[in-house]
Amino acid sequence: MTRVCFVCLGNICRSPLAETVFVKMVRDRGLEDRFSADSAGTGSYHVGELPDPRGRAVASRRGYSVVGAARQFKRADFARFDRIVAMDSDNLAALRKLAPDATSRNKIELLRNHDPQASGPADVPDPYYGGDSGFDEVIDICERSCKNLIDCLVREGG
Ligand code: 4NP
Repeated sequence: MTRVCFVCLGNICRSPLAETVFVKMVRDRGLEDRFSADSAGTGSYHVGELPDPRGRAVASRRGYSVVGAARQFKRADFARFDRIVAMDSDNLAALRKLAPDATSRNKIELLRNHDPQASGPADVPDPYYGGDSGFDEVIDICERSCKNLIDCLVREGG
């Protein structure tokens, strides 16, 4: 089983949506015996909260159901996951700082490394201070990126 953890700042907007999209795509492809996913935040501000209601509403309109409660990414998570997928460069830097060793650091990457529409390192824009359209954009990016991430994991034989 390859275990993937998606990481943003609060674990209420972007990473729960990435997890949701990834899990649905894995199920739709019949790969649930091979891949599992979770999400977490580098910050602790929203621990215990449900995913943002705007994200849940937009996701629901697009056929997704977002579940879970926010938690903070902990150093011990580096051992619990095989791939740690950051939503933006700030989260990537925070994860690199927290990583206890090179093996852990090598598990970290940016989600948009897998986005065919990104040229060079790109962030998933933070939708927290915007409107619903920001959440639609996040889901668009997650759909493009998770498709290619899953293709990549399958090719690697995970
Ligand atoms: P997320 O979005 O990192 O995608 O969950 C945010 C959630 C909360 C805050 C910022 C971004 N905040 O500043 O509280």
